[in-house]
Order: sequence, then C-alpha cells, then structure tokens
Amino acid sequence: MEVKTSLLDNMIGVGDMVLLEPLSEETFLDNLRNRFDHNEIYTYIGSVVISMNPYRSLPIFTPDKVEEYRNRNFYELSPHIYALADEAYRSLRDQDKDQCILITGESGAGKTEASKLVMSYVAAVCGKGQEVNKVKEQLLQSNPVLEAFGNAKTVRNDNSSRFGKYMDIEFDFKGDPLGGVISNYLLEKSRVVKQPRGERNFHVFYQLLSGASDDTLKKLKLDRDFSKYNYLSLDSAAVNGLDDAANFRTVRNAMQIVGFMEDEVQSVLELVAAVLKLGNIEFKPESRCNGTDESRIKDKNDLKEMCELLGIEQSVLERAFSYRTVEAKLEKVSTTLNVAQAYYARDALAKNLYSRLFSWLVTRINESIKAQAKTRHKVMGVLDIYGFEIFEDNSFEQFIINYCNEKLQQIFIELTLREEQEEYVREGIEWTNIEYFNNAIICDLIENHQNGILAMLDEECLRPGTVSDETFLDKLNTICAEHQHFESRLSKNSKFLTDHSLPHSCFRIQHYAGKVLYRTEGFVDKNNDLLYRDLSQAMYKATHSLIKQLFPEGNPAKVNLKRPLTAGFQFRASVGTLMRNLQTKNPNYIRCIKPNDKKAPHIFTDSLVCHQLRYLGLMENVRVRRAGYAFRQAYEPCLERYKMLCKRTWPHWKGPAREGVEVLMPDLQVPTEEYAYGRSKIFIRNPRTLFFLEERRKQCLEDLAALIQKIYRGWKCRSHFLLLKESQIVVAAWYRRFAQQKKYKQIKSATTVVQSYTRGWQARKLLRELKYQKRCEEAVTTISAFWHGTQARRELRRLKEEARRKHAVAVIWAYWKGLKVRREYRKFFRANAGKKIYDFTIQRIMQKYFLGLKSTVPSMSPIDKNWPSRRYLFLDGAHTELRRIFHLWRCKKYRSQFTEEKKAVYEEKLEASEIFKDKKTLYPSSVSQPFKGDYLEISKNPKYQKLNSAVDEKVLLADVVNKINRANGKGTPRIFLLTKKSVVLADQKTGQVKASVPLPDLSSVSVSTQNDGFFALKLKEGSASAIKGDFLLSSEHLIEIITKLHRTGATAAEREQLDIDISDEFLVQFKQDKVCVKFIQAALKNGNSVSCKRKNNRLLEVSVPVMA
Ligand SMILES: Nc1ncnc2c1ncn2[C@@H]1O[C@H](COP(=O)(O)OP(=O)(O)OP(=O)(O)O)[C@@H](O)[C@H]1O
Ligand SMILES: [Mg+2]
Repeated sequence: MEVKTSLLDNMIGVGDMVLLEPLSEETFLDNLRNRFDHNEIYTYIGSVVISMNPYRSLPIFTPDKVEEYRNRNFYELSPHIYALADEAYRSLRDQDKDQCILITGESGAGKTEASKLVMSYVAAVCGKGQEVNKVKEQLLQSNPVLEAFGNAKTVRNDNSSRFGKYMDIEFDFKGDPLGGVISNYLLEKSRVVKQPRGERNFHVFYQLLSGASDDTLKKLKLDRDFSKYNYLSLDSAAVNGLDDAANFRTVRNAMQIVGFMEDEVQSVLELVAAVLKLGNIEFKPESRCNGTDESRIKDKNDLKEMCELLGIEQSVLERAFSYRTVEAKLEKVSTTLNVAQAYYARDALAKNLYSRLFSWLVTRINESIKAQAKTRHKVMGVLDIYGFEIFEDNSFEQFIINYCNEKLQQIFIELTLREEQEEYVREGIEWTNIEYFNNAIICDLIENHQNGILAMLDEECLRPGTVSDETFLDKLNTICAEHQHFESRLSKNSKFLTDHSLPHSCFRIQHYAGKVLYRTEGFVDKNNDLLYRDLSQAMYKATHSLIKQLFPEGNPAKVNLKRPLTAGFQFRASVGTLMRNLQTKNPNYIRCIKPNDKKAPHIFTDSLVCHQLRYLGLMENVRVRRAGYAFRQAYEPCLERYKMLCKRTWPHWKGPAREGVEVLMPDLQVPTEEYAYGRSKIFIRNPRTLFFLEERRKQCLEDLAALIQKIYRGWKCRSHFLLLKESQIVVAAWYRRFAQQKKYKQIKSATTVVQSYTRGWQARKLLRELKYQKRCEEAVTTISAFWHGTQARRELRRLKEEARRKHAVAVIWAYWKGLKVRREYRKFFRANAGKKIYDFTIQRIMQKYFLGLKSTVPSMSPIDKNWPSRRYLFLDGAHTELRRIFHLWRCKKYRSQFTEEKKAVYEEKLEASEIFKDKKTLYPSSVSQPFKGDYLEISKNPKYQKLNSAVDEKVLLADVVNKINRANGKGTPRIFLLTKKSVVLADQKTGQVKASVPLPDLSSVSVSTQNDGFFALKLKEGSASAIKGDFLLSSEHLIEIITKLHRTGATAAEREQLDIDISDEFLVQFKQDKVCVKFIQAALKNGNSVSCKRKNNRLLEVSVPVMA
C-alpha cells in the first residue's frame, strides 16, 4: 500500500490553492475542475477547506478513512473534511482551545452534509462508553428531527435547510462529548402557507401523510391525499430519491432516541395536522347593511376538526377570524375583517404556529442533549447557515440572509488575518501588510443603529401613521443615497444616472459577493411579523397543553400593549450574539461550492463555480494567505522530505532539524529572499520555490528509486542464484541418494532372490538326503527288528525248551529230593515242631496285647489311676514300663496346655508340696485352694488406693491376716502385703501401713505341724525391722503365704532359701522378750476353731482341734 507523508504526494493539480502558480481566477477554476474530474472534491486554501458537492456518494467517508485521518497532521494526507475535523478536535482536546467550524456556501452546496460529516467524524474518534455513546447518538439523531421540520425541497436543493443552525457540542477534559446546545436562526416560515413553483412545503407534512399509519391519521383527522390540503403544493409533492414514508419512521425513531415522550410526539403531530387543517379554512365575503365588508367561513368542517385537535372552542376561533380588537390604553375597538384580512389572519396564524412549534422543538431537543455535568466544558461549534442568495426576486428573507453572510465574511477576513498575523509573530517573521477588501462598510450600511437599513425599517414599522414599503424605500433614498454600496432608482437619478435594470420599488446593495437587487414589497409586513391579538388569545384558551405554551402572549392576565420586537431587530441581535460567540473560538472554515445547477454528478459549470468563488471571496482568501509567504512547513517534515537533495543531510542528519534545513536550503541554491526561518517552521515565499524543491525531490526520488531498484534487483538475483545453487546441491544430493537407494534395493532384492533360490536348492538337496537317510535308518530298523525278532523268537523257543527241561528236572529233582528228605527227616519232624508253634503262639499273644491296649488305654487325665490289667504274667515288666511311659507322656501333654501364670501357680503348688507335704497337717486342705495371691484386689479396690500407691513394687500377695497379740493371744485383722522386696502390714480399715519389713530382714518363718494357720515371721537380729520384734500371725492361706515368702524371700535376700521351721514349739521375739509358742491338739469346746491363750509370760498355747 502506498504510504502518504504529505499532501504534496501524488497531487492532482495542487491540493492547496496557495501553491497555485500563477494565481488567477482562471487557474483557480482550472485547478478545481481538474480535481473535481478526478473525484478530488476537497482542496485547501491554507487551513480552509473548499468542498465541492459531488452529488453522488464517494467511497471516501468509510470507517477506514476515519482511521486513516485519525491523529494525522493536517498536511500529511490529501485534503479532506476529516483532516479539518481531526485538527479541530485535537486542538480542542489537547490544547484546550474552543473551536468553531463555519460552513458556508450557497443553497445545495453541501453545508448540511458537511456538518454531518464533521459530527460523525468527531463521534467516531472521541471516547467510547455507554453514557458517551448515548450522548453521541442523541446529538446525531437531533439532525433528522430538525431536518424534517426545518428542511424543504427547493429548486436548488431537494433537502434545503430553511433555517440557520448553530450547534455547540460540549466536551469534557478528556474530549468525551457531554452534550450540546442548538441555536436556530430565522426559519423561512412563509413557506408554510405558500411555496414557489417547483418547491415543496416542509418535509414533515409529506412525511406525516405518507408514513403515518391509518390509525394515526384517523386520530389526527387527516387524509393521506396531498391534494386535499391547500398548503401543500402538488406539482412537486413527490421528490426523486426521497422516501417520505421511510423518513417518517426515521424521524419518529430519532425523536424517541433524543428523548421525546410519546405524548409529546403526539402533540407535535397534532399541531402539524392543525396547520394543514388551517390551510383548508376558506372565507366568503358578506356585506353588512352598514356598508362594511365582512367575511364568513365557507365550510366549517375543517375549522371544527382543527378546534377538536387543539381543544379550542370553535366559536372563539371563528370570532378571531372575523374580528380584530385593537387595544390602546383604556380603549378597546373591534373591527370586522374582510376576506383578504381573514386570509391574512389565517396565514399569519399558520406561520406563527409552525415557527413557534419549530422553536419549541429546538428548545426541547436542547433540554435532552444539554450537558449534565456542571464542569467546565470545551466547546466545538458547528455553524450550518444559509449561504449568500442572489435570486431574481429578492425579498426581506434574502436581505436578512445576505446580511448574515456579510457578517460571516467579515469575521472570516478578520480571523484569517489575525491568525496569519499571530503565526508570523509566533514564528518571529516580519509581518508585511496585506491589502484586502474590508466589508465592514457594507455591514455598517445594514446594521448601523442610527441610519442602517434595518434601523430604518424598524423606524418605519414603529412610526404612527400610514406605513408602507414605499415609505420605507423613500426613507432609504433619503438616508442611504450617498452610500457607495447602496443604489436605487432615485439615488441614481440624483446622480443623473439612468439604470433601467433598477425598478422603482427596489434597492440594490453591492455586497462583498456581488450586487443584489431587493424588492421592498413585504419588507414592512415581514419585519412586523404581526399576529392579531384575538388569534393569540384564542390559541391561549386551547386545552392543548403545547399550543397554550406556544402563545404565552395570549394570556389576558399578561396583556402587553407594547409592540413585539421586529423580526429584523431580533435577527440583528441574534447575529450579533453569534458573531461575539464565534470570535472567542478558534475558527475552521469549510467553504462549500456547488458545481452545477442540475443537482447532477460529473458536471462542472464554470460560470456557476466562478460566481461562487467570487462571492465566497476565495481569491481574496488565497491572496491574504500568500501575501507574505505562500507555504510553510515545520522543520522536521521539511527535512525529512527534502534531505535526499543534499549529501550532508542524506541519509541521516544528526543535529536539530532546523540546522539540517539551514544546511539544505543554501546547498540547493534557493535564493535567500525566497524563504525565511521561523521558530518552528520554514516559510517559503513563492509556490514556484516549493515546486522547484518538489521537482528536485522527484528527480532525486527517481535516481534513488533506480539505485534501490538496482541494489534490490542485484540482491534479489544473487539471493535467487544462491538459493538455486543451494537447492541444486540439495536436489542432487537427494537424487543421488535416491538413485543409490534404488540401486541398492534392486541388488538387495536380486541377492535375496538368488539367495532364496540357493537356499531352496540346498534345503531340497538336504531334505532329499535326510529323507534317504531316514529311509535307510527305517529300513535298517525294520530289518534289524525283523532279524532280532527272529533271533528272539528262536532264543525264546530255546529258552522255553530249556526251562521246560529245567522245570522238569526240578520237579523231578524236587520229587526225588522230597522223597529223599521225607525219607531222611521223617524221624526229626515232631521234636522241632513244638518250638516253632511256641514262638508263633507267643508272637500272636504279644500282637493281641498291643493291639488290645489301643482300645483299653485310660483317659489323658494325669490323675487317672486306671490302667488295664494284663492277662499273662510274663507281660508284667512290659506292662509296668508301658504304664510309666504313658503317664509321663500324658503329664507332658497336660503341662503343655498351661499358661505362664498357671504354670507359676503349679510351680508354687509344687514348692508348697516340697515344703509341707507330710510335714504339716494343714497341707492337704490347701492343695485344692487356688493360689490367687491378691485376695483383696488391692489395685482395683478404691479403698486401698492409698495403700497401693504406698507400695512401690508389684503386690504378689494381699490378704487379711490376724496379728496375734502377745498379751492375750487374740488376733487383730491386718492386711498382709507381700511384694518382691518386702512384707507390709496395714490397718484393715484405714489401709494405713503399720509395719514394712524388707525381705532381707527376715531370717526365718516358723509354723506348726498342725492343722492351723499360725506362723511367725522372724526377723534378723540387729536389722532395722527387728526393733519391734517378730510377728505372730495367723491366716487361712498359710500354705500359699509361706510358699510365696519362701520363693521371694530367697531371691530378695540373695540367699539360697528362706528357712522354714516346722515344729510345734518355737520361740518368738516380742520386743525384749522371747515367748514360746506351743501347739497342742485338743478337743475344743467352742467348735473347731483354733484358739490361742497366754499361759504365762513366756508361753503362748495354741490349741488345735484334732482332725477327725
Ligand atoms: N459530500 C457529499 N457527498 C455526496 N452528496 C453530497 C455531498 N454533499 C452534498 N451532497 C448532495 O447535495 C445535496 C445538498 O446538500 P446539502 O443539503 O448539504 O446542501 P446545503 O448546502 O445544506 O443547502 P441548503 O443551504 O439549501 O441547506 C445533498 O442532499 C446531497 O444529495
Ligand atoms: Mg442545508
């Protein structure tokens, strides 16, 4: 894609008229035509954009184009309205400068389209977001609504704006739109009641009738047929390319987007319908007997319907059309209206109704689109105002419009010059004075407060007495005759000049854009813009809320006897405000030109364009712009563009751009008077210097292009060659590899075939050999088998024969031997038979005995004493031995079932038997006792918890024993605890330890041989425990206690064993004394219990009952 860096690239003609050489009207026109023929509709004059109406859609307003022009410098790309919009938007956003875009040109030149393009561009490039998009949409959608009500088809333009529009778009500091304000100027309301030939009324009437649904039309009491309405011209009701029905839908949609409520839309349509109805009211003359002419409404149906629509009482309106009341101070005079006056009143009402509705619409739209935030706004104003108009018949409207354009031209000249001057000052370039035509004198002729035409007209309108357009002209003739831009028949005559082109009722003004002849007819009337008070009061009485709002002066409570402000006065005031507003902003100009009168594409009418460029003052514009220096460019782009023209700056310039340009220009031998160095730009005096530079650049570019081409081609060929070479090597390598692979595969497959044949042949040969060998072997085997078989059978036969013979011999020999033995042993036989029979018998008996034992063997209980008896005495020894073996075996079996605890108990039992068996009478009764040990369950019983914790060791035995008192031989219950290390005696109730004797301190234990439970614990003399003396105790578990003491006492004291002394008399050491304890057998009175008595100091006698 081609990349543009300057508008000078690929220019058609010149993109900027400032560069036109030589500058003349002809060359200007030629350049415009040339560009127009090449679809270049935009051309610059410095920063002013000239826009030609193409009358067809060009592909230059696409989103891509928007992107192309976005953030690009003004002169970077071909001239375009987007470049101007972008420049304006960026300096608003980035430099905080309020902008105004002034679009001027004659009717049909494309002003409205241009304003829409600017708005849509700004909408496309500014911020995005839900709220911002809504604002944008509302701003854009205000256009279709205003166009429907304010535009009409004219002979010049099918969509001609019949009002002036200035729209301020407000932005926040980021450049996002916040809202807007629209001002409207002078709607051409006369169009409502009358349209020139070939033109139409405002679009909305046709749109409503074509596009509204039957239902809506019925509600509005309207008929779809245009011909039924007097206010609608019929000859051009349908316009080519305009779809009124579709446009109606667009307008309704736009109204909705802008924020109109449904009932508001309905009210607006009712007012439009009322205007149409109003046009159909017709009057007929009626003469009164007093000779005055009156008027009557012909057919009251339309009046009735209109009154119903607006909610007005019919009689009130009827009266307002028949009478006119004039109030003066305290007087009220009513006069009847004749037919002409009635029609005048009707049309005045229709015009007022419509124009006030239009102003209300603008106010309503403003309400919707006004910025919500109260922060400081940046503003971009877009002015789309009617262009200069020169018709055959120019009236008050043209006068006003042209006055407005004079003012705009003035501000244009002023601001352009100011801008030019400011730039020169900014850049430090000396200012050369520029000669230009200043149209202030014409503005003064029109707007001067004392003797200006508008002031004169107001004076005439307000003057008492008969006032007419003629009197107004007379006044002009007297006041303005001497003015060099004013002409009238009379003023000419006074100078003795005859000008037949000047009719009597006209005056001519020489505007900056040309001479315009104004017909004074209607000037006074239009300036007065009168609506009879009766009508405004009738309107105020309406119940329709909107209509009531539109005619506030009809309120009888606010009767204002002052005359309303004249139209001219109001317009002058609003133009004044507009001019002041524009002067505070940075102006951007779009000058629209219409290429032909036929509204057709591709046609360029020289005379028409020439006329426009004259009255738009475009030549003047170019001259002002070129007066000093025709062209200017910032140093960076200038150096970038021309650096290839100087060896020192090409290809790279290291220093600042300005120094580069300062080197470049002398190097190119440009005369020094042809340029000047500004602060940031270079100024070039003549376009030819620029074209000289461009020409040199073009040549240089060609040379450079050739060089680049040469190098590129060389590089391309070289790289192509290298690529080919490299490819060839690769291809060759691949091919060789492929060929070799193929050859190898062939050889391999051939080898495989040969090999397989050889192997097959060898295998077959081998197979044959093997088969032969096998056959041979089989044959040998068969032969040998046969041979061996023959041999074997022969041998068998021989052996059989031999065996038969041997058997026969043996039989014979046996018989013979038997005979011999029988003969020899017949005498010994009986003697040996007895021993053999005995042995046999013995063997049988033994056998029977052993087998019999199997079934008669006793039970496995070790205490089972049974043993089967023996039948034969000789088995006695064996029988006894067998019994012993069996008993040992079953004891072993029995023992193997024991657990460790049980085993320990049995060991104790065994030990008990070793100690006591046959020594103490008590012993047998203890055998059946289970040696439980802990009879008190001391660790579980909470009562003995304290005691349990006092004893560190595991308790081996815990039982209640009686401690025998030495004094009386009575027993006191004590808890007896035995651990591995000590014997503890404790109180039975409290569990308090009474005595603790370490086992090593025990010397021996004494018990009786009797059937009692007494035992004495004897302590080692001199031991710590021996102080209190020995213990005499009695227990039911004596055998168990003594056995356990015997077991542990030995291990604890590391001695062989604790001595157990068993005798019926032993000594016990009680403190100091030794007391003898003696056991006697006695038949006791008190039953079978053992009793102990003290006999004397040295004897305790224990009586033990005699065992039965
Ligand atoms: N840039 C454009 N591209 C295509 N057609 C255009 C362009 N500008 C204008 N036109 C055509 O020209 C017609 C008239 O343009 P526009 O309504 O903008 O004129 P105007 O200057 O506003 O006239 P008036 O002063 O009567 O309102 C448009 O309806 C459209 O058909
Ligand atoms: Mg327009």
